Amino acid sequence: MKRAFATLLMTAVSVTPAWAQKADGLAMTPQMGWNSWNKFACNIDEKLIRETADAMVKLGLKDAGYQYVNIDDCWHGARDANGEMHPDPQRFPSGIKALADYVHARGLKLGIYSDVGNTTCGGRPGSRGHEYQDARTYAAWGVDYIKYDWCDSKGLSAQGAYQTISDAIRASKRPMLLSMCEWGENKPWEWAAPIGHSWRTTGDIYPCWDCEMSHGSWSALGILRILDKQAGLRKYAGPGHWNDMDMLEVGMGMTEDEDRAHFSIWAMMNSPLILGNDLRSMPASVRSIIGRREVIAINQDPLGVQALRFYNQGQVELWAKPMANDEWAFMILNRGEAPLAYRYDWQQHTIGDDLSKREADFRKTTYRWTDAWTGKSGDTGKRLEVTVPAHGVVLLRLKKS
Ligand code: GLA
Repeated sequence: MKRAFATLLMTAVSVTPAWAQKADGLAMTPQMGWNSWNKFACNIDEKLIRETADAMVKLGLKDAGYQYVNIDDCWHGARDANGEMHPDPQRFPSGIKALADYVHARGLKLGIYSDVGNTTCGGRPGSRGHEYQDARTYAAWGVDYIKYDWCDSKGLSAQGAYQTISDAIRASKRPMLLSMCEWGENKPWEWAAPIGHSWRTTGDIYPCWDCEMSHGSWSALGILRILDKQAGLRKYAGPGHWNDMDMLEVGMGMTEDEDRAHFSIWAMMNSPLILGNDLRSMPASVRSIIGRREVIAINQDPLGVQALRFYNQGQVELWAKPMANDEWAFMILNRGEAPLAYRYDWQQHTIGDDLSKREADFRKTTYRWTDAWTGKSGDTGKRLEVTVPAHGVVLLRLKKS
């Protein structure tokens, strides 16, 4: 009898999906928001954060789904005699609690940044040895999101260090999204689903299509370099635990076609959509890319299945993303330097996905497609004929007709 009960218990424990251990219901679709780092690095203060929250609301980005306003590195002042962390008194004189209140009053949420080590990547105090204390402090301030970096981590086990901050967050009793910024060095996708809500899969992003920017001991990566490093990772992501391809560089110097492709790829890959540009002053063209609801909807699809690449030849790649209600998103990526006239005869193809056990057989089923960027539409009964811009994409949403 006892043994039967034990077996039952073990079965019950082992069938609990790993992510359910967090049980906080956060990031059931990839988190959306803004972060100060890509544009401002250490040059941040409370005025910037307040103005960004205002811009998010005023420009309709909140209505489009953006929620988190995240302060990255360099908000820190010093620890006091009790080890309590305080913000930089010059840059954040009103304190983080006041900032959280301000952001909350606008229906948004506040994120903060810390690090596993004694010092952050920007050389500010990290949380090592203060994990529970810091999580309590952030909770008392009303913080909703913690990005937790991996600098000064020598000698630490990544899994152990992130488990500690995850436990500390749980002990604080305030649900806070844990965005793990470990750069993929210790394969976090293999162990982090029960610990955090997203994990960086690569080093830092750089606003270029296909380049690497050397910083000596490490290189920042362009859009295609990051995309190519996602191979094999899609099976690890899902609701509550996402592969994070780093914060967005839309509006940070690439061409409009590159920006659209970058945003489309991040949407298809279910990466968190964390804006990295200055929201207070941006051209309408940038605003229309980051606010494009048809593209955001692909990222925020409740099924939470990351796209698969099912064809690649030369500079062309075809990607498909199974979506709820038997829909699909379909992306043609042109990695190359010249525009591409592309024809796709749906009738000759079937798209199958072993992971989600989904199939689109265009001979049996006709789908109506809508171009997520232009609104143009058609159906899979007829051959698709499109021009894919250089360094660009065509992104379609397919519904059974
Ligand atoms: C690391 C992270 C970046 C940013 C900086 C801050 O490089 O990967 O996203 O947070 O640190 O110093």
